[in-house]
Amino acid sequence: MKILVINGPNLNMLGIREPDIYGKETYESLVEKLHSYCKEKGVEVKTYQSNHEGDIVDTIQSAYKRFDGIVINPGAYTHTSIAILDALKAVGLPAVEVHISDVDSREPFRQISYVGLYCFKTIKGHGTNGYFEAIDALLNTNGESKC
Ligand code: DQA
Repeated sequence: MKILVINGPNLNMLGIREPDIYGKETYESLVEKLHSYCKEKGVEVKTYQSNHEGDIVDTIQSAYKRFDGIVINPGAYTHTSIAILDALKAVGLPAVEVHISDVDSREPFRQISYVGLYCFKTIKGHGTNGYFEAIDALLNTNGESKC
């Protein structure tokens, strides 16, 4: 199985940005842990981070026929990007949405998720553990996804 893990804007600042909300773990450390977790599980993983919406759309498109599933934390684009939602719909791969923080208990604008309209599962408020739960969810999926 090949999984693409996508992180959107400002997630490269993990460990520095608002540690009371997002924790102290750095993005580099998270990436390292994701690679060793996937190796243990016999999963091929690619990690990608971008601060640019179009680059995220390009990366999702490039996953078509090349990956079996997507884990995505679109950062603030979660709440605004129909383009990312449409890209996920276009490639049709099973996808899991991750949010480090509990977006439901934050500002009202964080409670809208376009990407969540496609993803078959959303994990929020579990810190960086959510990424590992998302990989497990993809491993357990039977290719299910919803629009
Ligand atoms: C986030 C939540 C978003 O509202 C925010 O814009 C982020 C991170 C999270 O992981 O909790 O950048 O997706």
